[in-house]
Amino acid sequence: MSKYQVGIIGFGWVAEAHLEALKKVDQFKPYAILSGRQLNSMEFKEKYGVDVKIYNDIDKFLTDKNIDVVDICTPSFLHHEQTIAASNAGKHIILEKPIALSFKDSVKMLKTVRKNRTLTSICFEIRFISSAKAIKSIIDQGLIGEIYNGEVDYYHGIGPWYVNQKWESEKKNGGSSLLRAGCHALDMLLYLMDEKVEEVFTYGNTNPNPVYKNYDYDLNTVTLLKFKNGAIGKVSSNTDCMQPYVFNMNIVGSEGSVKNDLFHSKKIKGLNGWAKLDVDLIDSGDVLNHPYVEQFTHFAECLDKGIETTNNFESAFETHKVIFAADKSAELGRPVKLNEF
Ligand SMILES: NC(=O)c1ccc[n+]([C@@H]2O[C@H](COP(=O)([O-])OP(=O)(O)OC[C@H]3O[C@@H](n4cnc5c(N)ncnc54)[C@H](O)[C@@H]3O)[C@@H](O)[C@H]2O)c1
Repeated sequence: MSKYQVGIIGFGWVAEAHLEALKKVDQFKPYAILSGRQLNSMEFKEKYGVDVKIYNDIDKFLTDKNIDVVDICTPSFLHHEQTIAASNAGKHIILEKPIALSFKDSVKMLKTVRKNRTLTSICFEIRFISSAKAIKSIIDQGLIGEIYNGEVDYYHGIGPWYVNQKWESEKKNGGSSLLRAGCHALDMLLYLMDEKVEEVFTYGNTNPNPVYKNYDYDLNTVTLLKFKNGAIGKVSSNTDCMQPYVFNMNIVGSEGSVKNDLFHSKKIKGLNGWAKLDVDLIDSGDVLNHPYVEQFTHFAECLDKGIETTNNFESAFETHKVIFAADKSAELGRPVKLNEF
């Protein structure tokens, strides 16, 4: 039975995937859309099979008492002000990545959601794919021992053929390679390593192919990370490649390793080579294939219990702090310590 009525802000590419996922989670009911465009509720019903109230004014939308959860799917540069407004209006929040484009804005958001006790679900949905769950569980059970090396890499050519490129080609709107998309890989590395970062060092450049000539920031970065416990890591955030989508997870411990759907451990007797895990991999940049149903199901369970999600704002804030340090490192051409923030 539906318990939580959802109002979506910004109905573009990713919002369609959210809507389809929300329809599959019993506790959620898509109820309203706040759009920058003039949407027609009848046409919307014909196309998506749901009755929604269409708003064009954020104040009217946020004062609608029937909206329990606000789902923010707007361009990245709008996330901070809309999150603060929705939290202050007493709504719980689903928020697309990145949470914000500056550290300063993310701090303001953190203070607001803490003050209002807003329950949040940040769209690092890749955490909910079965391969990520299996790797996390293998690590947590100590099957690969003490983790001392981790690499998670994101390769996805996001060029002018994507609709959001109208706004994302400028740094003031897209932010950086990590903020536009590679944040999924960085978040996954931090989630799996489960350790604080001490320092990062990042290099960046852009594919010389002329299709990327209008972008005013580096679309490809490589970040090296030093963790507080001495472990090291690497994240490639390649958002301008000319190849099929690749999301690599490779975690190395004192007793074994996991590499996407492959696993090896000296703790398992009789295992000679890689053991294959029967899990789903993230192998597509198409948001309709992403595990939003699992993410939203977890959120609904947490709303029922009145508790924080594992992918809450606090945890996304920690990931973004590392991103802002990495982007600062690329800009300054030197390693940056997290305690500089
Ligand atoms: N988690 C993921 O894998 C993933 C994938 C794609 C996009 N995203 C994120 O989702 C967000 C949206 O990306 P997209 O690709 O859907 O972009 P998009 O351009 O397709 O959609 C954005 C929509 O917001 C609307 N909009 C703009 N300003 C508005 C306003 N003030 N009020 C209401 N609506 C407004 C636009 O009309 C558009 O329909 C971005 O932050 C992006 O980083 C995340």
